[in-house]
Amino acid sequence: MRIGILGSGLMGGKLGTIWARAGHEVVFSYTRSEQKLQKLARDAKRKARSGTPREAAQDADALLLAVHWSRVDDVLQQAGDLSGKVIVTCSLPMNADDTGLVIAHTSSGAEELAKRVRKARVVSAFGTVPSEVLFGVFAARRKARRPSLVYCGDDTRSKKVAAGLIRDVGFDPVDAGPLRIARYTEPFTLLVAQLAYEGDGGPELAYRFERFGT
Ligand SMILES: NC(=O)c1ccc[n+]([C@@H]2O[C@H](COP(=O)([O-])OP(=O)(O)OC[C@H]3O[C@@H](n4cnc5c(N)ncnc54)[C@H](OP(=O)(O)O)[C@@H]3O)[C@@H](O)[C@H]2O)c1
Repeated sequence: MRIGILGSGLMGGKLGTIWARAGHEVVFSYTRSEQKLQKLARDAKRKARSGTPREAAQDADALLLAVHWSRVDDVLQQAGDLSGKVIVTCSLPMNADDTGLVIAHTSSGAEELAKRVRKARVVSAFGTVPSEVLFGVFAARRKARRPSLVYCGDDTRSKKVAAGLIRDVGFDPVDAGPLRIARYTEPFTLLVAQLAYEGDGGPELAYRFERFGT
């Protein structure tokens, strides 16, 4: 698949690198440093390259939106026409100092994004884990017990694309339902962040849902 990365920071840089290593064609875009983009593409090797958000979006089978909430409009505007595109978003609607959600309860960042790019197909995924765990999960992908990763969206085909990308990283995709379920997954991330960054065990943290009974 061709994957465009809109926001090549902690999340976008790592996920793009992993997908390139998994065999996808990746275009990294949107940082303040062109050198950083080029280094990411070089280090990811294989079919990775750097480009503008518009180049990342062009011909992409899937886009990862991984920018601070305050940068969403800017990167979308730079990306151009996203009609029909699958947008996987890990971006959380955080306030300027990242201490709280600016959208919650009655809507979610993912739903607001879908309203801004009405012709795109938005899936919410990857926002519930810290970036620090991603390479570890990828390294352990051949182990039997994979960590879970919840995702949600309203379009079946796009959700299949997202589930494949989740599997490629090494997670077990858990379909949480329609996009409005992001109202629950986004605040759940604040719990994961609390455990990851304020807990004793360090930020390389993922989660796993288990079912019991027959
Ligand atoms: N980090 C996590 O563990 C984590 C986990 C779950 C969800 N999230 C969410 O995922 C999203 C991305 O988080 P992140 O930690 O990956 O953020 P980040 O490391 O700050 O990456 C954001 C990217 O946007 C770029 N950017 C910011 N302002 C820009 C501007 N004015 N012009 C061009 N590029 C600009 C940054 O460029 P520079 O490289 O130049 O800074 C960076 O490449 C956020 O919405 C966050 O809430 C993050």
